[in-house]
Amino acid sequence: MTQRTKKAPPLRIAVLGSGSGSNCQSLIDAIAAGTLNAEITGIFSDVEGAPILDRARRHGIPCRYLSGSPFKTKIDGEAETRYLAALEACGAEVIVLAGFMRIVKHRLLSAYAGRIVNIHPSLLPAFPGVKSWEQALRYGTKLAGCTVHFVDEGTDTGPIIIQRAVPVLDDDTPETLHARIQVDEHIAYPEALRLIADGRITIRDHRVLLPTPPTVPPHPAAH
Ligand code: GRF
Repeated sequence: MTQRTKKAPPLRIAVLGSGSGSNCQSLIDAIAAGTLNAEITGIFSDVEGAPILDRARRHGIPCRYLSGSPFKTKIDGEAETRYLAALEACGAEVIVLAGFMRIVKHRLLSAYAGRIVNIHPSLLPAFPGVKSWEQALRYGTKLAGCTVHFVDEGTDTGPIIIQRAVPVLDDDTPETLHARIQVDEHIAYPEALRLIADGRITIRDHRVLLPTPPTVPPHPAAH
């Protein structure tokens, strides 16, 4: 990736997603609003007919279903070759995982070392893995939230770029809590990409250091 500054050409992003694509939409909207210096050059889904692909078509963004087989929960072997070819063809500098329900393995990770980001619906390192909002309810935490992080070989273990806390209410169901977390995800993801696009991130000893604080205010519940 070229040295990034605020005046750099738009950051070329590819998005991988398996579902609704609301986080992808938050990036599309931030780019359209001129608050994120990026261009989405490809949207790929391992689920044929996933709504994220409809969003891409509506916005005229190149998109494709890319099978993840022969595996169910990871991108490996032939699937990895397919994904690598598609990502290279769209000239992606950064890969954004937005509700992508598969683990990214070594070849992709090393081809895009330090350039794959993910959003996770908890305040990591709490509740890695699936349905973190249900894990938070079961545990009884008073705060839930979301984390944008770089992807490394572990599961939800890479350096954290930004986190936002969200209150857990007494009458929350898994659905209401996840919906509240998603409101903050849609603020956190564009902000994290903005930090990358503007070249404001350095990583030291697994810590993402920011020369200036993020521009979005924390959730009021965090105070
Ligand atoms: C989000 O909650 C994200 O944190 C998790 O998967 C969900 C994707 O939602 N990784 P969407 O497809 O972006 O609406």
